[in-house]
Amino acid sequence: MKKSTPTAAPSTRRRRAPAAGVFPDAADTVVVRRVRRGDLDQVIDIDATVTGLEKRPYWAAVYRRYGSGQRAAQQFLVAVAHERVVGFVIGEIRDWEFGSPPCGWVFAIDVDPRARLGGVGTRLLEAISAHFRSAGVTKLRTLLALDNPLILKFFRSQGMMAGPLISLEMDLDG
Ligand SMILES: CC(C)(COP(=O)(O)OP(=O)(O)OC[C@H]1O[C@@H](n2cnc3c(N)ncnc32)[C@H](O)[C@@H]1OP(=O)(O)O)[C@@H](O)C(=O)NCCC(=O)NCCS
Repeated sequence: MKKSTPTAAPSTRRRRAPAAGVFPDAADTVVVRRVRRGDLDQVIDIDATVTGLEKRPYWAAVYRRYGSGQRAAQQFLVAVAHERVVGFVIGEIRDWEFGSPPCGWVFAIDVDPRARLGGVGTRLLEAISAHFRSAGVTKLRTLLALDNPLILKFFRSQGMMAGPLISLEMDLDG
């Protein structure tokens, strides 16, 4: 991970010019906080924009599981700029799975296309890393699709590199 303090203060790293969009100054104004029920419609919209699918029941279930904020191990955070949700990150500390000591997994991160390239994704990853760190874990992991070079570039920019695990899969007939 980049060495920066994950607070609500904007990152001081020099950045490329943000994409022209509705939230051109998102990185300067953004606050990262725990998700609230009232954020869900905007989270669903961002996800639908990125993936092309609206998955309302899925998001309701994710909110029930990760949105309570009661368990430090489960985090669902949103980035808010100008009172709009412009991105979110979800992750969880998993203990001893795949034979690994406890580590923090990021399993979703999305930024509204109109707020990208301004540091919002970086702020979200910093914030969830801070939660994991304060819960005592020292490793961050994720999985990503081979055909998604954008998310690979982003995670690499944050200091993430190939880890010791590989993914395997097969079709289950019948
Ligand atoms: C990946 C994503 C989260 C990045 O969000 P962001 O707010 O634009 O990221 P940042 O502005 O913090 O960018 C940090 C770094 O990532 C890299 N990066 C981000 N977008 C990039 C792009 N389009 N091209 C090349 N590098 C890029 C750069 O190194 C950048 O640093 P720089 O601006 O100093 O060059 C956002 O593009 C996104 O939501 N993409 C879709 C995510 C997705 O596919 N999710 C599904 C799997 S969970």
